[in-house]
Amino acid sequence: MSPDVLIAPSILSADFARLGAEVAAVDRAGADWIHLDVMDGHYVPNITFGPAIVRAIRKSSAKLFDCHLMIEPADPFIAAFAEAGADLVTVHAEATTHLDRSLQLIKSLGKQAGVALNPATPATAIEHVLDRLDLVLVMTVNPGFGGQAFIPAMLEKIRRVRALTAGRGIRIEVDGGINAETAPEVIAAGADVLVAGSAIFGQPDHAAAIAALRPTAVA
Ligand code: DX5
Ligand code: ZN
Repeated sequence: MSPDVLIAPSILSADFARLGAEVAAVDRAGADWIHLDVMDGHYVPNITFGPAIVRAIRKSSAKLFDCHLMIEPADPFIAAFAEAGADLVTVHAEATTHLDRSLQLIKSLGKQAGVALNPATPATAIEHVLDRLDLVLVMTVNPGFGGQAFIPAMLEKIRRVRALTAGRGIRIEVDGGINAETAPEVIAAGADVLVAGSAIFGQPDHAAAIAALRPTAVA
């Protein structure tokens, strides 16, 4: 099955003491991708994990590893994440001095490339790098923590990114405050990859939580 809307559980909200088992659990529960939030305590006010952890959990799932780098600079670490098992590497537009160069680097390593836009970053930041993109990540909260409230003004940004990327096969991912209430809104605006941390790991039944985010859950 290759659904049009993909669900990517963020392991930021998983039990880090049993991360491998948590990744395997959401894989079994129907996750399409596994979303990995890498934070450096510099670009964002929180620290998570690096390539060694990505490598360690790689054996727990064969699903696409969606590596969201919230680190500045990004370039010196991109190869390490690629070698550790990331399939898609996303950098923040503001976290790299030369965005076009960073995207070229990701592609040169044979990985899919994404750019993330913070809530205050305009959609037009992607305008001149469209040829290099596999994905645009529209942050629907300010990056750094799980469990924050969805920012409604991002719906208009999703629509603008959809217009800018039309006909190119570029995925539009949303991240932050996605739950059964906000999922239909972001899907209607044009998002087709939904990241969710607390909405999935906060529920004992991961499969039901994932199913509740899919368009079919919305009659
Ligand atoms: C925030 C991270 C998100 C986070 C989302 O900086 O990029 O992936 O885990 O968490 P929820 O779904 O709880 O808002
Ligand atoms: Zn993320």
